[in-house]
Amino acid sequence: MSEKNTFTIFGGTGDLTFRKLIPALYNMEMTGSNTFDTQIVVIGRRDYTSSAYRELARDWVEKFTRLSFREEVYEKIAERILYYRMDFTKEEAYGELNAFYRENGAENHVFYFAVAPRFFPVIVQGLKKVDGARGGKVVLEKPFGENLEAAAALNEKMEAFFSPDHIYRIDHYLGKEMVRNIQTIRFANPIFSNVWDAKHIRCIQISAMEEVGVETRGSYYDHSGALKDMMQNHLFQILSIVAMEQPQSSAVEDMHREQMKVLSALVMPEDISGSMVLGQYGGYREEPSVAPDSDTETYAAVRLLVDNDRWRGMPFYIRTGKKLGEREMQVAVVFKSPSPEVESNILNIRIQPTEGVYLQFNIKRPGETDDIIQAKMDFCQSCSLEHHLNTPEAYERLIGACFRGERSWFSQWDQVGISWRYVDAVKAAYRSSGMPLASYEPGSNGPQEAERLLAIYGDTWFDN
Ligand SMILES: NC(=O)c1ccc[n+]([C@@H]2O[C@H](COP(=O)([O-])OP(=O)(O)OC[C@H]3O[C@@H](n4cnc5c(N)ncnc54)[C@H](OP(=O)(O)O)[C@@H]3O)[C@@H](O)[C@H]2O)c1
Repeated sequence: MSEKNTFTIFGGTGDLTFRKLIPALYNMEMTGSNTFDTQIVVIGRRDYTSSAYRELARDWVEKFTRLSFREEVYEKIAERILYYRMDFTKEEAYGELNAFYRENGAENHVFYFAVAPRFFPVIVQGLKKVDGARGGKVVLEKPFGENLEAAAALNEKMEAFFSPDHIYRIDHYLGKEMVRNIQTIRFANPIFSNVWDAKHIRCIQISAMEEVGVETRGSYYDHSGALKDMMQNHLFQILSIVAMEQPQSSAVEDMHREQMKVLSALVMPEDISGSMVLGQYGGYREEPSVAPDSDTETYAAVRLLVDNDRWRGMPFYIRTGKKLGEREMQVAVVFKSPSPEVESNILNIRIQPTEGVYLQFNIKRPGETDDIIQAKMDFCQSCSLEHHLNTPEAYERLIGACFRGERSWFSQWDQVGISWRYVDAVKAAYRSSGMPLASYEPGSNGPQEAERLLAIYGDTWFDN
């Protein structure tokens, strides 16, 4: 049996695998970006043969691929898929898994844990019985732990088995085209890099608004909430990229060092009521698998300060929520205006669903008037078919990066840990302050309290 690079997905019959991972592997085949040449072992409990699984996976690929579906390309993926049925919580099952790997010449392992984090330790324990697993790589899905203490314990277990530089903590927002573009927009354009500081910028707003509610994920979400599900990971990562100093090089260590400096400089709020609003949408407690008296927040807005020379005194406003009027993820940089009568220049980096960037600036209204009106220079990247076809989905990009050993766009443990410390502390402060959860109407912009939070500082949320 010849030896084969082997990509194993634990959770191979789950939603993430169906919607994202298998379609990503197909798209990588379409674009020729999968140079790793793997066999793909998918693990689940359901009773499938490999050929039944391949048939099923064809439907998901047809439905979720961003590129056109071509049977001959799908066949190239399908013939490399092996379905393996096991209960991964049973330690004794891993001896058989090892025998299965041997039969199939598995080597150079990359494991993808597309399962809830409570299962990570038991899988790692089992993998001790698998030849070559210890030298392999592992991709871990979020959330990484449920708080700082749990995340640290989990990290210790993972690092006791896998080499720390073989652990890829996925944050799929870091694979998004416009998040990767932030560095270029900032550092390759003197018109922005020269004014990227508290002296010239009034505030920076990072918004991740969702139209959907918890849908079928109530049991997971009700133990998590907006702060842990979105802010601790995705939004803090984006904040650190927006605010960091230019890394000395593109090496992973340089970028992480700069991101860490930002996260380490976050200031704990002295007055939580002037820094945070948590809310819950009407009807949340009636959602499937949600506790009828749940106090989980489905909306969070936070005012953050970064205590360093570049940003001292300038607020970053971050908000995220479910069941809002519009799906939009963006970073709005609001520049200081020369006088109160003149609107701020705004640089808006749009991450999803629209990808692009626009600059709002002031011009004279045409005609015999000196009125000032706003104009936009708008680059819509996702509007162009050519750009759309050339833009890989986050999972394609990140799986490829893991195969190639590129670690820059994955979260490192120290970043995860420091974000947890901040989020745990502000959440505890909110709870002990006795502030209630603000309620908001589904389809609205979120709670009124979030508008009032910015009004304290004379700011307003920027909406397109
Ligand atoms: N879904 C998303 O869009 C998304 C996005 C970002 C992050 N994530 C994260 O990704 C992870 C997976 O999410 P998901 O939505 O794909 O979950 P899911 O749909 O509930 O799938 C869970 C998977 O785990 C398998 N599984 C559970 N217990 C098992 C056991 N004892 N032995 C073997 N297999 C077992 C299930 O297999 P069977 O069905 O065969 O029992 C299924 O394949 C979670 O940590 C989630 O937070 C998901």
